[in-house]
Amino acid sequence: MKTLIAILGLTAMLSAADGGTLFQKCAACHGAKGEKAALGKSEVIAGWKSDKVLEALKGYKSGSRNTKGMGAIMKGQMAALSDGDMKTIADYVAGLK
Ligand code: HEC
Repeated sequence: MKTLIAILGLTAMLSAADGGTLFQKCAACHGAKGEKAALGKSEVIAGWKSDKVLEALKGYKSGSRNTKGMGAIMKGQMAALSDGDMKTIADYVAGLK
């Protein structure tokens, strides 16, 4: 029983990735500090407030957001992220300088 609890605890730790880790795959397009226009199209997201980022991410995930005609790319990026992950990322982006 103790082993099982230990394994469950470890799994929880591994699955609760921090913002910096989650943002690594975003950085390829948006820049390590969110300073780039992704694929030359998106707005620069560095400096966005957490709520604004979260709203955008939820819009892409649901398929309702498509400001530059490339929403499908972002929808793909959101597919594997939980609501909690999106909030973690939004908070992380808001803290980028
Ligand atoms: C393959 C390149 C690519 C990756 C990887 C990527 N994005 Fe994007 N992102 C884009 C493009 C292109 C747009 C503009 C989409 C559109 O037409 O609305 C965008 C838009 C956005 C926007 C809204 C900006 C705007 O112009 O309105 C946010 C916020 C965002 N991305 C965050 C993220 C986060 C967080 C991740 C990682 C989980 C991520 N992106 C990964 C290419 C990418």
